[in-house]
Amino acid sequence: MTESSFTFDDRRVGFTAGQTVGAALIGAGIRSWRTTRVEGRPRGVFCGIGVCFDCLITIDGVPNQRACLIAAQPGMAVRTQEGGGRDQLAV
Ligand code: FES
Repeated sequence: MTESSFTFDDRRVGFTAGQTVGAALIGAGIRSWRTTRVEGRPRGVFCGIGVCFDCLITIDGVPNQRACLIAAQPGMAVRTQEGGGRDQLAV
């Protein structure tokens, strides 16, 4: 099976076709990629089906993407999301 990769905080993460970003991160041993707004606690996949929003992550500069729903694509730039993840949405 062919493996592609994206970067997570400048680290290479491999994935196979059909995997989500969240599945690829877990496969790479990465369990959290967001911190909560108030207490800064780590979060990653919880429900895994797009309902809880615990897995929010920044992909290609766009915050608040659900890692459990977004299909991994070669060359994505995936980054840890801190706080509300709304810095780049400010007007
Ligand atoms: S893990 Fe619940 S929405 Fe992604």
